Amino acid sequence: MVLSSFDLTNKVAIVTGSGSGIGKTIALGLAESGASIVVTELPGKEEAARETAAEIEKLGQQALVATLDVTKLETIRQMVSEAEAHFGRIDILVNNAGIIIRKPSLEVTEEDWDKVHDVNLKGTFFTSQEVAKVMKEHGGGKIVNIASINGVVGFYERAAYCSSKAGIVNLTRVLAIDWAEYGINVNAVGPNYLLTPLTEKLFSNDEFREDVLYRTPIKRIGTPEDVVGAVVYLASPASNFVTGHTVMVDGGWTAW
Ligand SMILES: NC(=O)c1ccc[n+]([C@@H]2O[C@H](COP(=O)([O-])OP(=O)(O)OC[C@H]3O[C@@H](n4cnc5c(N)ncnc54)[C@H](O)[C@@H]3O)[C@@H](O)[C@H]2O)c1
Repeated sequence: MVLSSFDLTNKVAIVTGSGSGIGKTIALGLAESGASIVVTELPGKEEAARETAAEIEKLGQQALVATLDVTKLETIRQMVSEAEAHFGRIDILVNNAGIIIRKPSLEVTEEDWDKVHDVNLKGTFFTSQEVAKVMKEHGGGKIVNIASINGVVGFYERAAYCSSKAGIVNLTRVLAIDWAEYGINVNAVGPNYLLTPLTEKLFSNDEFREDVLYRTPIKRIGTPEDVVGAVVYLASPASNFVTGHTVMVDGGWTAW
């Protein structure tokens, strides 16, 4: 009974930026839990998306590959309409696509600022809006935003990133309030720094690695697999009475 409330059989999930890193691991985790997956990637990165799709099919689930640049609203509309036409419904959206530009705050340009906010915050909002229209028609759904510890605490040389992720944490609350009447739950996950293609170079720096370990009470570096359980929970009926919340998956960093 309890276990079945985590089951995603017959659900359809979109995971943005799922050709690599955390998005790929989340897509595979949702598929393992029974969902069919829309794997999206940027134009030019379709090969990576196809590889994720092939792994999903090996798990016995269906996968659809779609091109998506969350900064271009017409590609959001196109991806959502392809997903709906193919599967007939959308039950879950994971807004995972994200970028970071690390620079001392005195050196951040307007272009850096806009780029990070366009992908992380504006992209999350407009992808959610387009998908919510479909979810509303079908009686509801689950939206899970990938925020970060940097949505609730600051960190050096990440002004635009921290600000965009803090925006996601509060956007999550607003959309939860606005869309509760449509049966749409909106929650977020806040990971610690995890070992992925986005952070591989960072973790090769001993000082950064030591800094993360020092600030993480559970003394290890997290992996994308650490995030999957929280996402499956927030995507499943097990979390039907949870909305507007950010689950920190951070080994205790933000408990300090
Ligand atoms: N890696 C970490 O330590 C860490 C920690 C906390 C939060 N996060 C967040 O997790 C998410 C995934 O990060 P990751 O480490 O797997 O990074 P990654 O670079 O491996 O993956 C990011 C994905 O987003 C896609 N993407 C980038 N710009 C896009 C756009 N304009 N439109 C659509 N897709 C786009 C990329 O192609 C890629 O597939 C991000 O939102 C990131 O901020 C990462």
